[in-house]
Amino acid sequence: MVYVPSETRYDEMDYRHCGNSGLKLPAISLGLWHNFGGDTGHDLKRKICQTAFDNGITHFDLANNYGPPAGSAEEAFGEILRTDFAGYRDEMVIATKAGYMMWDGPYGEWSSRKYLISSCDQSLKRLGLDYVDIFYSHRYDPDTPLEETMGALDQIVRSGKALYAGISSYNSERTREAVAILKDLGTPCIIHQPSYNMINRWVERDGLKDTLKDLGVGSIAFTPLAQGMLTNKYLKGTPASSRAAQGKSLDPGFLNERAIANIQKLNEIAAARGQTLAQMALAWVLRDGGITTALIGASKPEQVVDCVGALKNQDFTAEELAEIDIYANEEDINLWALSSET
Ligand SMILES: NC(=O)c1ccc[n+]([C@@H]2O[C@H](COP(=O)([O-])OP(=O)(O)OC[C@H]3O[C@@H](n4cnc5c(N)ncnc54)[C@H](OP(=O)(O)O)[C@@H]3O)[C@@H](O)[C@H]2O)c1
Repeated sequence: MVYVPSETRYDEMDYRHCGNSGLKLPAISLGLWHNFGGDTGHDLKRKICQTAFDNGITHFDLANNYGPPAGSAEEAFGEILRTDFAGYRDEMVIATKAGYMMWDGPYGEWSSRKYLISSCDQSLKRLGLDYVDIFYSHRYDPDTPLEETMGALDQIVRSGKALYAGISSYNSERTREAVAILKDLGTPCIIHQPSYNMINRWVERDGLKDTLKDLGVGSIAFTPLAQGMLTNKYLKGTPASSRAAQGKSLDPGFLNERAIANIQKLNEIAAARGQTLAQMALAWVLRDGGITTALIGASKPEQVVDCVGALKNQDFTAEELAEIDIYANEEDINLWALSSET
């Protein structure tokens, strides 16, 4: 069947300027970290992407290593771009990144110029694109001068392989340094991608939202649902189809009694607001304008629809926020802490 996007796809979504840049991003974006590798059928991947686009999600987030195997998510999305999304490239913002282990030997990870530029070339081939819209340094590399990493991002943008530069999981101090270097080079850093959700609040402790506001840099919060913990799916055990049951990045140990008891309470607050917990978790991440867009993942098209429904109720009373704070306790789930602690 030929895919024809919904004519009403732009009616309900909010589009927000990414920091001081001219680029607008949808309030909800879709990431292809899980469920886009060789372990998932192509039809399901197509349906998730189609549902996202039909609901106004114009921003798709990838990385060189998404799969498994690494690279296969970019290949799958490249196939979708050539088929279903042919003709819609200019309605989309496509991002990719490099920083984590991608290929053997000394040049296949971290943040040298050698690695970032080769990786960007490989990503473009897998995606079948001449350029991506955003290219990120995926993590801070303590053993490479920041000037070299930012110089590589500048070169990638200047050579037309990316339109904008971004950084991920950098703390406030490193962010200020990186943004200043890019500014001097004449290529602004327009976006920061941190992990952030009700039970992973390092961004607040670090002051990153204020830093980004001060610098005029936009932000895209990844794992806004804590990999699925901030939904109702684990309240009655671990479903076989869930990420926690699949030996992936969601350690079943994260779903301890204390965390589940708090999530149950958050679920009750969401119900009183007339929302699913997933919807409340997304509205919460977006609540004060400090985050440009919430970057979700999905294993089913229905999850995308549910998540976009968050935008129907984004307002919180002071009482609701105070009650959420009682149960939104930080859990030890930040797998990316090493980058932001360096
Ligand atoms: N920059 C970085 O270092 C970095 C790191 C990690 C992720 N990311 C980006 O962030 C994206 C999102 O990460 P994530 O997938 O962990 O985000 P997430 O939105 O916190 O979790 C997604 C998972 O939550 C569940 N879910 C989603 N919507 C639901 C709903 N409405 N109801 C019930 N369950 C729902 C699904 O779990 P099930 O699969 O169990 O159904 C889904 O796979 C990634 O794809 C990637 O693009 C970036």
